[in-house]
Amino acid sequence: MALVITGASVLGEETRDLYVDDAGRLVDEAPAGADVIDADGLVALPGLVDLHTHLREPGREDAETILTGSRAAAVGGFTAVLAMANTSPVTDTAEAALRVLDLGREAGVVDVQPVGAVTKGLAGQELAELGLMARSRAAVRVFSDDGKCVHDARVMRRALEYVKAFGGVVSQHAQDPALAGPTACCHEGEVSGRLGLPGWPGIAEEVIVARDVMLARHTGSRVHIAHVSTAGSVEMIRWAKAQGIDVTAEVTPHHLLLTTDLLTGYDPTFKVNPPLRPTEDVEALRVALADGTIDAVATDHAPHARHDKEHAFVDAAFGMLGLETALAVVRTAVPDLTWAQVACVMSTNPARIAGLPDHGSLDAGTPAHLVLVDPGAVVTIDRADSVSLSSNNPWHGRSLTSRVVHTVYAGKVTVRDGVLAE
Ligand code: DOR
Repeated sequence: MALVITGASVLGEETRDLYVDDAGRLVDEAPAGADVIDADGLVALPGLVDLHTHLREPGREDAETILTGSRAAAVGGFTAVLAMANTSPVTDTAEAALRVLDLGREAGVVDVQPVGAVTKGLAGQELAELGLMARSRAAVRVFSDDGKCVHDARVMRRALEYVKAFGGVVSQHAQDPALAGPTACCHEGEVSGRLGLPGWPGIAEEVIVARDVMLARHTGSRVHIAHVSTAGSVEMIRWAKAQGIDVTAEVTPHHLLLTTDLLTGYDPTFKVNPPLRPTEDVEALRVALADGTIDAVATDHAPHARHDKEHAFVDAAFGMLGLETALAVVRTAVPDLTWAQVACVMSTNPARIAGLPDHGSLDAGTPAHLVLVDPGAVVTIDRADSVSLSSNNPWHGRSLTSRVVHTVYAGKVTVRDGVLAE
């Protein structure tokens, strides 16, 4: 059904009406017989695009499914998500990618775009079927072994060379396994020392970032650094961009707001990979997001079933929920970003990095993927309100600024007044 959205402040700037025709496209003229959404006082942004989502299907449908994760995404204002490859089986073939794509279409509330594994079984040795995945109907463009680093420089070089042929990108989980060590479970520093927990040093991330920007320069290919978490990585990415190296980077909402001090209660909700870092790193990440060194916010939404997460800190699974709260966390963590900047880092840039031309814009003629936000709302998060199947929600009990009110996906209202539309 056609839509008229009245009185929204578009990108937080001019107030105007938005029109969606019967085919679900943004148009310049008001369509007849339209459903009307009163958006007075709300900010309109292009639908959010998440470069980094774990949907767990196939294999761990007890933690999340493509349907429940898509719904969580819609509630968070997203209209497209990239589904990470560390499922069971791994998304390392065209067939596996198509399955994720088709389950996403069946769910029908956001575009679910599969990420292909870089190496078979995420084992870091043999390249996966990159070309077949790219040429398939799923048109995979982003490849990642996320959860694991492509640590062998030779394999990384080959992957970069390979994806260049079809305009793909390798999204690297930058973490040298030798420097990180097999038992690390938090940031290596004063807090880990005090708690007696084995830590990861920031340098384990930074050496891979440094290596990979050099490999990108050498191959003339495109590299993307997933969940950047240290000031040293930021410095390296800033340097690489200044050299004209084709590197992009993302930061998670949690690395913009939470610090390693939260671990003093040994609460496994805060166990995540890469780990929460000290305040100096968090501040550097905020600056880098605002000045464009970091291109995108990506959630790393990582649902885990209770029986995987509720353990002693050292034994618990890594990861936290993020889709439903991402926008509010960004507003809270970096309140000086303009809405136009928020649209850039949460929609336009991730759509460009992922090669999703239908997303990231509010121009007439494009599919109507958009989100309407109450900019002044302050919401106290309750994990019981989540539509995710899992409850490892690090924001429980926190007050966050701004609220997603309505989400529109391809002209269809998927979330109305904060609630999933049937
Ligand atoms: O905390 C994390 N959880 N980091 C990752 O890289 C993987 C993710 C997961 O799959 O749970």
